Order: sequence, then structure tokens, then C-alpha cells
Amino acid sequence: MLSIDYISHTFKGQKQPVLKDIAVTIEAGQQVALIGRSGCGKSTLLHMLAGLTLPSEGCVRIHGKQVIKPSAKWNMMFQRPSLYPWMTVKQNAALGLVFAGEKANVDARVGELLELVGLADKADVNVQQLSGGQQQRVALARSLATDPELLLLDEPFSALDAFTRMSLQDEVSAIARKKNITLVIVTHDIDEAIAMSERVLIMSQGPGQIVGELRVELPYPRNREQREYSGLREQLMQQFSDSSHAKKSNVAPLHQQQRVAVA
Ligand SMILES: Nc1ncnc2c1ncn2[C@@H]1O[C@H](COP(=O)(O)OP(=O)(O)O)[C@@H](O)[C@H]1O
Ligand SMILES: [Mg+2]
Repeated sequence: MLSIDYISHTFKGQKQPVLKDIAVTIEAGQQVALIGRSGCGKSTLLHMLAGLTLPSEGCVRIHGKQVIKPSAKWNMMFQRPSLYPWMTVKQNAALGLVFAGEKANVDARVGELLELVGLADKADVNVQQLSGGQQQRVALARSLATDPELLLLDEPFSALDAFTRMSLQDEVSAIARKKNITLVIVTHDIDEAIAMSERVLIMSQGPGQIVGELRVELPYPRNREQREYSGLREQLMQQFSDSSHAKKSNVAPLHQQQRVAVA
């Protein structure tokens, strides 16, 4: 459904590329996490998937078609919910539809979405009266309003407390599965990556490259107490530190090596 075809990117005025030879294919409905250190180029890559930035080499394709501009079919959710503070929950959630020019059944559709994200009783409340987690739910409802095929999440829960973060990780993942939405979540949090995805892509830094992949073949919702879960967590940490070392010794990037799926 989504293919990243050998993307490399160098920002204007810079000598070193921020991304190099990124090649990944993602199936429809798959939930994929992209994990890497701060500054490794995760957001830059996600912006490219959203059509907000064009890579200097290579391209992103969705259903085989090159992504050259944003679309309501692939929505992005950020760390901050960026809501309009003077509007109500319902009005903010409806903005996705308004921006996409869709006017039919707005009330009913927004009502359903607020139900889905657990905010039905807050529809007419001003968003400033909500907690951080509730505000992020409004942003989620807004992103879902246009029935996106692809949801791109850029560390969307990192400003939230641990408990709210865990429930939102489980809920967003459940919603994506229910609606068959392909999910790409960028994170620097190992737990978040394992809790939400079937595939974890490991990104190195300077330049950003995909240097490893871990398959998470555990049933949803993920049980964080389970032994297999902590096993995968350790494996991911190990792969992450191995890949940083491999990077220093200039080992070939993953797509040139034989891919080993670790289950
Ligand atoms: N518009 C830009 N112009 C120049 N450099 C940028 C721009 N955006 C990001 N960068 C640089 O690219 C690198 C990767 O940034 P980013 O993709 O935001 O990393 P991450 O999301 O992994 O923390 C950083 O060194 C950042 O300073
Ligand atoms: Mg970022």
C-alpha cells in the first residue's frame, strides 16, 4: 500500500544528508513503528509520507502513486494536539471535514467519532477545559473524520502521563485495526513501539537509515506484563544498541544485508 522508494534527503544549505537510502514497503492495515534517537530524521521521514516535504532523492508511493502533496486520506497527528482554543470539542473535531470540504452529515459523523474516542459527553465543552489526554483524543477524532487510509503519528503521546499514554496507545491501535487504517508511528519509546506495532523499524542517526527490524507477533491488545512482551523489549534494546555499534563500523544498511525477522 505504502512504499518508500530509496529516499535520501539533504536539507538546503547542508552538506550531510539527514536521510539516506530508506527503502520500506508497508501493507494495507499494517501497524508499523519507526524508532530512533532524537534528531535522527524520524519526523522528516514522516513528513515525506504525509506529502509535507519532498525528498531530494527517491519518492514515497501510496497505491503505486507518487505522493507529492498532502491529502485527507493520509492524516498526521502530532505531539501537541493543536486545537483551536476558542472552539468546542465538536467544532474542533469537525475541522477535518470542514478542511476537506465535506458538508454532508457533519453532526452525525462527528457524533460517532466522539463516541469512538470516548468523548461523547464532552461534545459541547470548550477544549481548554479538557485534560491533555482528552485534547489528544479530540485531535484523534479530527484526524479520523475524513476516513483516512493511513494515519501518521509523530510521538503523539509523549506529552501525556504514563497511564493516559498507555490507554491511548491501546485505543488508537484498536481503532486503527477496527477501521483497517494503516498506522505509522514515530517514537523514541521502546515500549510504545512494542505496544502498538507489528513491525518495529530501527533507525540510525547521521545519516538516518533503517538498520534493523523487529517483528512483534503478539496478540492485541498487548499485555505489558507478559513474559514474551518483556523478551521483545529486551531484544529491541539489544538490536538498537547493536545497530548503533554496527553504524560506527560502517556495516551495510539493512536492505543490502539479508533481512532477518526476529519473532
Ligand atoms: N527544515 C529543516 N532545515 C534544516 N534542518 C532540519 C530541518 N528539519 C529538521 N532538520 C534537521 O534534521 C535532523 C532530523 O530532524 P527530525 O526529522 O526532526 O528528527 P527527529 O524527528 O528524529 O527528532 C535534525 O538534525 C534537524 O535539526
Ligand atoms: Mg521528531
